[in-house]
Amino acid sequence: MNKNINFILNKAARCHNLDEEEILCILEETENLKRLFSIADKVRKKYLGDEVHLRALIEFSNYCKQNCLYCGLRRDNRCLTRYRIEPQEIIEWTKKAKDWGYKTIVLQSGEDPYYNTDKMTKIISNIKSLDVALTLSVGEKTFEEYKAYRDAGADRYLLRIETTNETLYNRLDPEMSLKNRMQCIENIKKLGYEVGSGIIVGLPGQTLESIAKDIIYLKSIPVDMAGIGPFIYNPSTPIEDTKSSFFELSLKVMAVLRLLMPDINIPATTAMETLESNGRLIALQSGANVVMPNATETIYRKHYEIYPGKICLADSPTYCRVCIENKIKSINRYVSTGKGFRVKQNEMYCKAN
Ligand code: 5AD
Ligand code: SF4
Ligand code: FES
Repeated sequence: MNKNINFILNKAARCHNLDEEEILCILEETENLKRLFSIADKVRKKYLGDEVHLRALIEFSNYCKQNCLYCGLRRDNRCLTRYRIEPQEIIEWTKKAKDWGYKTIVLQSGEDPYYNTDKMTKIISNIKSLDVALTLSVGEKTFEEYKAYRDAGADRYLLRIETTNETLYNRLDPEMSLKNRMQCIENIKKLGYEVGSGIIVGLPGQTLESIAKDIIYLKSIPVDMAGIGPFIYNPSTPIEDTKSSFFELSLKVMAVLRLLMPDINIPATTAMETLESNGRLIALQSGANVVMPNATETIYRKHYEIYPGKICLADSPTYCRVCIENKIKSINRYVSTGKGFRVKQNEMYCKAN
């Protein structure tokens, strides 16, 4: 078994290709994890260097028409104070984020139909006139809507697949369909966005086999960005409490993705730091190269409660900006001065496999 895992890790580091069984073997491994994380860190350094890209996360509406069983923003959650920020104010927040040195803005919300195509394209074109890269994370839309956003100037789109297991998906995302979600991701790709996707690790009923399949799916797209977050139980949701921490498993999934897709952008996610202090720094040293600090105005932060215990709730956008830069410097890395688009380096991949 041990010999096997070493063989698999060496192969992954060299060829950036593994089959499902080999991925599963890594996910099942509990002893040789230091080696996995350090190889992922080396691969990150070889392909992407020591720079860390910051993306200013603006959570502009916590209304959501969907009802995902695991998420605090689900429409049936009556315990949440809802808010939405008017387009002009979103643009003002973005200007401030740019002044704090951010080169990429991520606009995130629940699926909120209040922001129709007119409103969205106005927000997008105003933000793009500031010369920043713009990522949208506003859920499932029609091809025409994605196209309008892209035509208005949006550069990237984040839509996590969450899980590729159809049974699990149907149970956890009622009224939604895995097929449509996959179609959305294909549409986003077709329209020339940089595609961000990812999964939740530790969903009740999820198996390591299904996570291995998720990893293969993300590579098959292939995504330009992969966000991996541990499941965190939210008592305001109807899902069962698994009572375990999925920090380490998330880190493993993230490291495997780095081995298989050496040049993509991988964020050290907020959910990781929610479960482990300095979780983002640990992730940055296990394959990640991106952080998405919260740039939402402090008074709204506590209401964007996807899961409890989120970090930075009482902090200001400027505080988070300074805080994260200091943390990044403390591990001998530095904040990038560029927009952080993916630079494809396929020619460096081993052809023989
Ligand atoms: N724990 C961790 N992540 C969650 N998300 C939603 N609910 C939870 C939860 N309970 C993630 C989903 C979604 C993103 C915005 O938050 O992956 O895409
Ligand atoms: Fe809405 Fe996204 Fe939460 Fe589902 S995961 S309820 S779509 S915000
Ligand atoms: Fe928000 Fe450190 S990043 S307080």
